[in-house]
Amino acid sequence: MKKIKVWDLPIRLFHWSLVVMIVVCIYTINVDNVTAHQYAGTFVLVLLLFRVLWGLLGSTTAKFWDFVKGPMSAYQYLRYGITKTEGHNPLGAYMVLLMLLVLFTQTITGLFLTDNTYLHQDSPLYQWVGSDARSVLKTIHQYNLYVIYTMVGLHVAAIVLYFLVKGQNLVKTMVVGTRTEDECHTPFATSIEGNRPWLALIIFGLVGVLVPYFLYGYVKNIGLITWIENTLIWLKGLLL
Ligand code: HEM
Repeated sequence: MKKIKVWDLPIRLFHWSLVVMIVVCIYTINVDNVTAHQYAGTFVLVLLLFRVLWGLLGSTTAKFWDFVKGPMSAYQYLRYGITKTEGHNPLGAYMVLLMLLVLFTQTITGLFLTDNTYLHQDSPLYQWVGSDARSVLKTIHQYNLYVIYTMVGLHVAAIVLYFLVKGQNLVKTMVVGTRTEDECHTPFATSIEGNRPWLALIIFGLVGVLVPYFLYGYVKNIGLITWIENTLIWLKGLLL
């Protein structure tokens, strides 16, 4: 049976990396490894920024204007199960936007916090705010986690419902990127267009260097080349 390509490789890598890194963020803070937590959280921030850029420049189902529709489309989908898009359905689109907003909130608030274990370094931008503002950001960082749990719960519940009610395996599609014609949400389904993994690599490379450099180099007055050299030595030590 004909297969329809629904998700490009960058979207799938982004999705599963995000899942892994959120788990790493929660684990590292639970074992009081604040440094590892800050780096893992920074990686989440890089992933989110990449996703926003990929939502502007990526292939069809990745693009915001392909899947974000007006409230009427979301209502029609909820009421009649009708959708014209093969990627995110109109209701799921709002969920994606909300999830990005909630995760941006979590990562950005984390950048301004201090290390209360006193064994690690404070977050890179902690000096940018006063102690009152920091304590508000800390509260948001603490309680926003429950919003993340709720959203993850709803997301997983939707996946299970799709499987039980419609017989569609969304997890498999997010792994392999394709679904067969009979699994498609819409009879008009066509494979994605504008699949440019090399562009994703360039965007990820740029965001993946510039964001960590800004946070852990630039704000400490370290030059880019020195920072790259130091980071490579650190990575080598970590891997070997
Ligand atoms: C999705 C990403 C993130 C998640 C899920 C997350 C989760 C958490 C949680 C659950 C706590 C414990 C809050 C409490 O006291 O109950 C925490 C604390 C903290 N997080 Fe994050 N965080 C994330 C991103 C970040 C980032 C990007 C940074 C900074 C680079 C950061 C820095 C911190 C710091 C400094 C603390 C306080 C540690 C302490 O109290 O000693 N977090 N985070």
